[in-house]
Amino acid sequence: MTFRVARLHESDWQLFAAMRLRALTDAVGEDDSSYHEEVIFTAAQWRRRLRDHAQFAALLEDRPVGLIGAQLESAEVVYLYSLWLEPTVRGRGLARRLVAAAVDWAGECRVRTVKLRVAADNAVARGVYESLGFRADENTAPDGELAMSLSVS
Ligand SMILES: CC(C)(COP(=O)(O)OP(=O)(O)OC[C@H]1O[C@@H](n2cnc3c(N)ncnc32)[C@H](O)[C@@H]1OP(=O)(O)O)[C@@H](O)C(=O)NCCC(=O)NCCS
Repeated sequence: MTFRVARLHESDWQLFAAMRLRALTDAVGEDDSSYHEEVIFTAAQWRRRLRDHAQFAALLEDRPVGLIGAQLESAEVVYLYSLWLEPTVRGRGLARRLVAAAVDWAGECRVRTVKLRVAADNAVARGVYESLGFRADENTAPDGELAMSLSVS
């Protein structure tokens, strides 16, 4: 099986929109406010998201099966968000490779730290991040989320 990670560009906005809406449907459901907000995005809004942040797609045999977003938050920090893999391809180590590609990009941006937030009870996602060297803050936020960070300098 050929697996690769590709950064998406503005011209990929239709693929990005379809993947993102699939991810939201699976992860939070179509009743969620994020889904309501994004399902009516225009082409210009999807394109802007691809301009503003780096979006990476996981491709298995050239079929898009996952996404992660990466935002250059400051000169020192890249923030990763919205990791998602299609349920049928989970459990094969692909999420780790997708996150690793985003971390590599952060390294190319010459930041010091990669940060993210994860639900404290999401053991699978935490396992993926920890296997790449991310460490969790001491305290869980009141919303049940845990901040994790990785030093890349
Ligand atoms: C989180 C997610 C991307 C992981 O995808 P995946 O393909 O299963 O991840 P990987 O196969 O790369 O790694 C999973 C690891 O967790 C481990 N794992 C599986 N179930 C586990 C559990 N219940 N508790 C702890 N670890 C677990 C696996 O053994 C594997 O580790 P290993 O390779 O050392 O054996 C996927 O489950 C997903 O899309 N979930 C919904 C969205 C989500 O939660 N995103 C994260 C937001 S922060």
